[in-house]
Amino acid sequence: MARPAEKASLDQWYVIDAEADIPAEPRPNRLLGRDLIVARDADGTVIVREKRDDGALGEPLPTIVRWGYIWTTLGKPERGLFELPEADEPDRRHVVCGAVAVNASGLRIIENFLDMAHFPFVHTDILGAEPNTEVHHYTTEIRRDVDEVWATNCEFFQPQAALSAEGGIMTQYMYRVMAPFQTLLYKTCPAAANRWDVICLFVQPLDHDRCRAHPVMFIIDDESTLTSMVHFQQLIFLQDRIILENQRPRLLPLEPRAEIPTRADISSVAYRRWLKEKGVTFGTAERAA
Ligand SMILES: [Fe+2]
Repeated sequence: MARPAEKASLDQWYVIDAEADIPAEPRPNRLLGRDLIVARDADGTVIVREKRDDGALGEPLPTIVRWGYIWTTLGKPERGLFELPEADEPDRRHVVCGAVAVNASGLRIIENFLDMAHFPFVHTDILGAEPNTEVHHYTTEIRRDVDEVWATNCEFFQPQAALSAEGGIMTQYMYRVMAPFQTLLYKTCPAAANRWDVICLFVQPLDHDRCRAHPVMFIIDDESTLTSMVHFQQLIFLQDRIILENQRPRLLPLEPRAEIPTRADISSVAYRRWLKEKGVTFGTAERAA
């Protein structure tokens, strides 16, 4: 039997579906190795319950509806959802990109999201291209006041940084990990010089080595159609999925010597240290609980 989820992972909020995708009739879902049933009550309010091993349904779990998604928890989170003020700016497009199933640890997906070194090789001629393969020096910190991992002063040369970009540009990035399975990035907005586009990746861990990723963008782009923006993001993410599903070991090692980091990986080193401090073991190669 698989290791059950530990307290550090249970006491978090997770996206389980886009609100618009939840039908009237009850539907199975899954989170952290446990089965859920998601339904709507007579008013249309979404109700999430755990389906126990004997088939009985538990009491409704706490839920939050935000940014187009249903969030729930199997534990007792110490706080609500993280701050995302850009999401409320009225001139941004809110682009829910659709869930993608990935046969990999959800933590691997977060780590891949933080990694710039793969751009020229995995997203060739879009987010990177040879010979511009070097990851320039950037800064990483664990911000104790908000308990988040940040990487700042990141930059990379990108042939097609966004659908709205015309030609290659040096793109600036900032990365943020708000919770063990939740991350986002701020990147140069080709359509507005003094603002950042925001791309979030909300990961729903189904099992240790299987998850669903829910990408959503809050971007400034008056030109592109919604469909074309969704397709652009899906293309990028499907390129990542091929890499993610072939990574070994499948679960994320937290021991520093298990995989040898380079200077470009300092954000991943900080992320793993932060996970270890928190006692997160779901999706990791850790033996001890
Ligand atoms: Fe990628």
